[in-house]
Amino acid sequence: MIAPSILSADFANLAAEADAVRGSDWLHVDVMDAHFVPNLTLGLPVVQSLLGATDIPIDCHLMIEDPARWAPPYAEAGAHNVTFHAEATDDPTAVARDIRAAGAKAGLSIKPGTALDPYLDILSSFDTLLVMSVEPGFGGQSFIPDVLDKVRTLRRRIDTDGLRILVEIDGGINADTIEQAAEAGVDCFVAGSAVYGADDPAGAVSALRAQAAR
Ligand code: DX5
Ligand code: ZN
Repeated sequence: MIAPSILSADFANLAAEADAVRGSDWLHVDVMDAHFVPNLTLGLPVVQSLLGATDIPIDCHLMIEDPARWAPPYAEAGAHNVTFHAEATDDPTAVARDIRAAGAKAGLSIKPGTALDPYLDILSSFDTLLVMSVEPGFGGQSFIPDVLDKVRTLRRRIDTDGLRILVEIDGGINADTIEQAAEAGVDCFVAGSAVYGADDPAGAVSALRAQAAR
């Protein structure tokens, strides 16, 4: 699966930018609050408008403090997937439960320096596990290959236990890095600059998907 990140799109033309990647599996929307990460993007009103402007399922990546309070409204609004950060809460399973109760899939994200181990025994609480392959906050950064060890561990645990959870990766995914991520066991690839920096964004999505399937 390929999830173009609109962080690299033109924020004054989001409906057209969503249309430019039709055929994508998910549309990845980075919500940043200038506290959890040192950058500010968009919030619930923009996500609500975007939901009315595209048929592509919206994959919300919340890089925010206090997800227990702020995450469920994105699910209520109709996002397909609501992912929050493990580092931002003491009770990730409670946040996931509230997201699911509000009608969305629940995702847990971990930063490059965050260990996976504490979360291995609660994987069934989540529908996606988003492994960050750059420090969250900005698009266009270089892929950190070390995080693929976490992807491999996750893949093994999911396959061994027969869990229904998708492994998603976010940051620095492009034609040079997607194959190693696919080999490690990623199911869903977020790509911002590699898609919206291309002359033909929809073509870039198809090319990445073909490469990941190799
Ligand atoms: C970074 C965001 C990413 C970003 C990825 O904090 O979570 O989704 O858009 O951008 P690229 O693909 O350019 O690394
Ligand atoms: Zn993201």
